[in-house]
Order: sequence, then C-alpha cells, then structure tokens
Amino acid sequence: MSVLFSPVALGSLTLANRIIVSPMCQYSAREGSATSWHAIHLGSLALSGAGLLFTEATAVSARGRISPGDLGLYDDANQEALDRVVRDIRENSGIALGIQLAHAGRKASSREPWAGGALIPQGMGGWLPQAPSAIAHAEGEPPPEAMTLEALEDVRRSFVASAKRAVAIGFQAIELHAAHGYLLHEFLSPVANRRSDDYGGCLENRMRFPLEVFKAVRAAVPESIPVGVRVSSTDWLDHLDCESWTLDDTIAFSLALKSAGASWIDASSGGISPRQKISVGPGYQVPFARAIRKATQMTVFAVGMITEPWQAEGILAEGDADCVALARAMLFDPHWPWRAAQALDGTIPAPKQYWRSLPAGTGRIFGDIAISQR
Ligand SMILES: Cc1cc2nc3c(=O)[nH]c(=O)nc-3n(C[C@H](O)[C@H](O)[C@H](O)COP(=O)(O)O)c2cc1C
Repeated sequence: MSVLFSPVALGSLTLANRIIVSPMCQYSAREGSATSWHAIHLGSLALSGAGLLFTEATAVSARGRISPGDLGLYDDANQEALDRVVRDIRENSGIALGIQLAHAGRKASSREPWAGGALIPQGMGGWLPQAPSAIAHAEGEPPPEAMTLEALEDVRRSFVASAKRAVAIGFQAIELHAAHGYLLHEFLSPVANRRSDDYGGCLENRMRFPLEVFKAVRAAVPESIPVGVRVSSTDWLDHLDCESWTLDDTIAFSLALKSAGASWIDASSGGISPRQKISVGPGYQVPFARAIRKATQMTVFAVGMITEPWQAEGILAEGDADCVALARAMLFDPHWPWRAAQALDGTIPAPKQYWRSLPAGTGRIFGDIAISQR
C-alpha cells in the first residue's frame, strides 16, 4: 500500500493523498484580481488528482505584492475575481483548495521574473516597500521603509481580513508565507531585522510578529480551516561571518507555532539574501523536513526537487515528511499524480471526460478502482 496515496489529516481537513501542488506565483493578475490565466492555470491543476492545490502567494495588501501582477485578496474586486475561479473549479473537481497568504516585505515592487525581477522605482509604476528595518535586500537597491508599530498592526489586520475573504470564497486551508525573504521571514531573520524594539534582537522578539500574525489568523477563521506555515528552514548563509536564521531557529519557531495551533510546517529554505549559497539537488530540502518533524512531531511538508513517484514515496515511507509539495514538476506535467498512481498502484479521481485517456496496454493505471467516479 502506497504511503503517497494514503489519506492524511491537516487538522480537520482530510486529504485523499499526500501530493500537494506547491504555491506558484503567476504574475498574471490585474490590480490583484485573478484573470482568465488563473482560471486556466488553476483549472488545469485542479484536475491533477493531487490531494491539495495551493494558490500562488496571494498578497494581503497592494503594498505587499511582489510585482504589479501578483494575485491579491485585499479588496472586494479581488475577492469576486478569485471567487469566480474557485466556483468554476468546484463545478468540475473535488480537489481540496488551499490559499497561501503573503506580504512581500522589502522584496515588493519588483518586475516580473520574465522582465528581469529588478525593483521598480516609485513613480515608474513602483511603490515603497515595507520591512522590519530600512535595509535593502541587495546592494545598490534603495532601502525599504522600516515599519512603525501602527504599520505592524495594519499588516496584522490585513492578514486577518484576507484570511476571512479566503474562507468566504471556500478555501479549505490557509498557509502563511513566512519564507523566501518575504515580510514574515524578514522579521525572523537577523539579516533583515535589526529592530531595537520588542520585535527585534533576540529570537523570541524576532518571532513575535510572525507569531502574532499566525495567532490572529488562527483566531479569525473557523476551527475547521487548518492554518499552516511555510518557513525558510535556513538562510543558507553559514559560510558568512554573520548572524542568520538557522534550522535550530526554525525548530524553535515551529514549536511555538505548534502551541499556537499550526496544522503543518512547509519546509522550504533561503531567499533572504543574494549572498546565500544553496546546495541544490534532488530532495535537497528533505533533511530540513526530517529534522523539523523529528523535533516537533508536527505534520511536515517536504518540498524541493521532488520529481519522481518512487522518490516521493521513499520520503514518506522513511518518515522524513507527511506530505510532498511539488512545484515545477506539476507545471511540466499537470497529471504528475496520475503517473505516480500508475507507478505506485494508487487511486486517483479522474473526470469522466478523461476516462478514455488510459493508454492501451498499460493495465490498471488507477489501482483497484479503475477510475473513481467523483
Ligand atoms: C513559477 C514558480 C513560482 C513560485 N511561486 C511561489 C510562491 O508563490 N510561494 C512560495 O512559497 N513558493 C513559490 N515557489 C517555490 C515553489 O513553491 C517550490 O517551493 C520550489 O519551486 C521548489 O519546489 P520544486 O523543485 O518542486 O519546483 C515558486 C516556484 C516556481 C517554479
């Protein structure tokens, strides 16, 4: 019996299998509102058979967008547009839907990656990014605005407001983005946080704002909606003579999140500094997932260069993680879970319109129940 194709509970939400479509920015929204691209992109992934499909990082304020094309959920127009996409998906797929809520912090106001990704100056379509401290992400960039206590309150409220909108749309799970050098990660890491108030300095102080945001969101949405957190398990700056965010810090943060009711930790890494040195390879972040899971006994997602069905199965069978999140492999092959089901004798719910897709001579691709009728 495949572990990948066994159910898993995130709080009171049970996923049919342990394949998760990782959040992926599309930079294709207008004023934060989803477009026909989102209907096509998310629609295609909704037929993937994955246990859970996450939206891309969805900004909780216009200022918290990475780029002008970021998806947002900060006004009624955003909510209406995303609601339309979700309604279409719901008519055609039973996939569990999650949303990743994010604030880009000092990495806001940037060009789309295909346009080079550089900061957009104010007055040229850009805006002034906010961050824990007025320290630029990269040398030569203008510094962001250091957030006042009022600004912290404002962002906390924005996370709560977006979470409520997400619940109203029908999202079944919420992930807070505290990774990749965006705002919540910037508070955690001493590389970006040099505050001298209660929100900077020691680890406890640096964790304060992300934990406040988590607790506020957790308290604002129904118990039935699990809330989890994506973390950068390390800043990958050990080669430098500077203080940075480490795996031990991540474990301390995860334990605090566990006490606050977090339903999972999504173990990513990096993004706080262009000086990071990452050793990339198949499953390169799995050791972080394993360490966090062992130390916290929490539900943990492994992510990063997980591309093969047996690799995914091995990660779960070894107890390194509870779920695997895939990004690029899902873009390349939106039916990756079907292939995985074929390899591991799993069962995937397939839409009836596709039932004739079974390639001749390949046998039962969907396990004992040839194709589930959902
Ligand atoms: C096109 C693209 C967009 C991404 N956008 C996000 C995002 O919105 N939020 C996030 O947490 N990670 C984002 N990521 C990172 C992925 O979720 C994932 O962690 C990373 O790509 C490693 O997994 P992979 O090797 O399966 O692609 C993005 C990755 C890609 C390729």
